[in-house]
Amino acid sequence: MERGWLHGEGQLLCFILHLLLQGSPGRGDTVAINCSGFDQQGVDPAAFQAVFDKKAFLPVTNNSGPTHVNISFTLSAILEVDAQLQLMTSFLWLNMIWYNPFIRWNPEECGDIRKLSIAAEKLWLPDIFIQEFMDVDQTATGLMVYVDSEGYMRYDKPMKVISICNLDIFYFPFDVQNCTLTFSSYTYTVEDMVLGLLKEVQEISNTSQSLIQSKGEWVLLSIHQRTVKMTVDTSQYDQIIFYVAIRRRPSLYVINLMVPSGFLVAIDALSFYLPTESENRAPFKMTLLLGYNVFLLMMNDILPDTGTPLISVYFALCLSLMVLSLLETIFITYLLHLVTTRPPPMPQWLHSLFLHCTSPMKCCPTAPQKGNKGLGLTPAHLPGLNEPMALVGKVPGPPESELNGFPESTRVQQEDEAQKQHLVSLWVQFSHMMDTLLFRLYLLFLATTIITVTVLWNT
Ligand SMILES: *[C@@H]1O[C@H](CO)[C@@H](O)[C@H](O)[C@H]1NC(C)=O
Ligand SMILES: *[C@@H]1O[C@H](CO)[C@@H](O)[C@H](O)[C@H]1NC(C)=O
Ligand SMILES: *[C@@H]1O[C@H](CO)[C@@H](O)[C@H](O)[C@H]1NC(C)=O
Ligand SMILES: *[C@@H]1O[C@H](CO)[C@@H](O)[C@H](O)[C@H]1NC(C)=O
Repeated sequence: MERGWLHGEGQLLCFILHLLLQGSPGRGDTVAINCSGFDQQGVDPAAFQAVFDKKAFLPVTNNSGPTHVNISFTLSAILEVDAQLQLMTSFLWLNMIWYNPFIRWNPEECGDIRKLSIAAEKLWLPDIFIQEFMDVDQTATGLMVYVDSEGYMRYDKPMKVISICNLDIFYFPFDVQNCTLTFSSYTYTVEDMVLGLLKEVQEISNTSQSLIQSKGEWVLLSIHQRTVKMTVDTSQYDQIIFYVAIRRRPSLYVINLMVPSGFLVAIDALSFYLPTESENRAPFKMTLLLGYNVFLLMMNDILPDTGTPLISVYFALCLSLMVLSLLETIFITYLLHLVTTRPPPMPQWLHSLFLHCTSPMKCCPTAPQKGNKGLGLTPAHLPGLNEPMALVGKVPGPPESELNGFPESTRVQQEDEAQKQHLVSLWVQFSHMMDTLLFRLYLLFLATTIITVTVLWNT
């Protein structure tokens, strides 16, 4: 019985000892702050000294669980996108929440103080960085951390982020860029730190969209997110990747680049309606070409320096169209000059083809009419050809009435002359037909170019 009692007492003692031994470290872990008097005398720095001393260490009680850091951010401005350096400069507010088991208190003992702010440099902070970051961290100093009585720490900091971004300028100025911001810890592997999201990514996206201050060149389209584990050697790091999709506002470029270029090409096309014989056409086109070159020089400053955007191809095509049209004008002018001074005999096949085409019911009946009417040409417009045309018409007339009164030689001469004039008029008509044909080819090429470029831009 005595042994029994003694045994029982020993058990009780053991139990109490066990309780004391188990209880004391546990209490030390969970309630670390004695906050009595904070409500009257303000925060006692001595109460936090133990926590401040632990600043250099990860705030965990034992090595069993990693620290969960939940992050989110608000993109407040897209300042610049540099296609040459492949950099995006943006401004964002980073929010982080984590749990520190050493800072807890009982609000009832402290006059219901539930939140305190503590200078950030006194506390352990997660070493979250953005992998694409390409600059020294210019985080403002003197930031505070909000601590609540449960031990949750909230840390917000503004950041100017210069991040590298794989920019594809092929569709410039209608391009959409997809830049990534990868949040990760410098040091801590997944055993020590796990990253999570503070808010839904849709919420991040919506807040950023409504907040973006700059009415600048770029519009935020959406933000998507993916969580991955990056393996380096044998350690794994938690990462959250945010995909920030931005779109360029093209109106500046449409007004400054595409509209002037379009006007110049349109004028070039319309200049085909200038009469070939007036000798104004070639100088006019030359001037346009010169103007276009000046425009291209100016445009070089606006275009991105790297890669070949589609718009450069478009400008090159416009330039080659203008050069081609100038060459065509030179060719037609030369042809007209040649046929009006020394008309070569027209080959038989060409003559028949020409007749075939000029007869009203055939395949391409409008060509010669267009050559004269469409281009605004009446015989009166042709300086050297006024008489020849008239002569061709008159040729059958005079010989009948006065044929016998003239010597044979004169008649032969006259017939020769008439035939030459006929040939000249044929050649001139042919030249105009060529002009019309080449003009149509030009229009076809222009339309194809515009349609191709537009279709490519829309895909
Ligand atoms: C907290 O500190 C006050 C004096 O600052 C002391 O009277 C009180 O006993 C302490 N409370 C605990 C639980 O240690
Ligand atoms: C860590 O502490 C928790 C409770 O705070 C406990 O359940 C767990 O067993 C401890 N882990 C180790 C490895 O001590
Ligand atoms: C972080 O987020 C996860 C899931 O949303 C949640 O379970 C966890 O409690 C959060 N941690 C903190 C410190 O807010
Ligand atoms: C950006 O890229 C990621 C991964 O390549 C993709 O999942 C996401 O849909 C892209 N976003 C846009 C808007 O294209």
